[in-house]
Amino acid sequence: MKKIIVLISGSGSNLQAIIDDCNAKRIDAEIACVISNNPNAFGLERAKLAGIKTIVINHKEFVSRELFDNELYILLKKHNPDLIVLAGFMRILTKKITENFYGKLINIHPSLLPKYPGLNTHEKAIKNNDKVHGVSIHYVSSELDGGPLIAQGEITTGKEDVDTLIERIHKLEHKIYPEIIKYICNGQIYLDSNKVIFEKIDLEGSYISKKYEI
Ligand code: GRF
Repeated sequence: MKKIIVLISGSGSNLQAIIDDCNAKRIDAEIACVISNNPNAFGLERAKLAGIKTIVINHKEFVSRELFDNELYILLKKHNPDLIVLAGFMRILTKKITENFYGKLINIHPSLLPKYPGLNTHEKAIKNNDKVHGVSIHYVSSELDGGPLIAQGEITTGKEDVDTLIERIHKLEHKIYPEIIKYICNGQIYLDSNKVIFEKIDLEGSYISKKYEI
């Protein structure tokens, strides 16, 4: 059984989807702890309810990004997880984290990268009249929302308000993030020399630009 650490900053709905799949044994892993930079993150309540250890490292108590990351690094090293999952973790990580945990650190981003890195992706998709929008799961590198792509899910978009679009994107995230985590924990997805390897997965290769009806 693999050991996962999940990093959050907010609602933690993705965390919940991962907790549910671990509890249902769809993911062969245990969440060793949930770390939040935000003491008020609702995801902390979700973790506590599930009996998972929570740790808060409040970024406001650190004078620099480097010092915050140093604290995070010490914690991560101490727990020595097989996989670190960023699930709505709203901090840019420095090389201390991205380089030391390269290949063990994944993120979900609500856009079809390389389109719309950063914030307000849904608003941008609507403003640009995009016909498709989606989510990307990738290994984390030192480049913001960069790093080797593992999977992308696409949905078609029409004339809808931002809240509706966010809700649909969340549903998509809750479907594909746990699925990818399951495969990583089974050793069926891994990073080898900057290339994402898929082993014995029926959908091999087609995780990129996969279309979903949501
Ligand atoms: C998700 O949309 C994720 O893609 C982005 O932040 C959001 C987190 O939502 N990185 P939640 O906290 O998991 O509900």
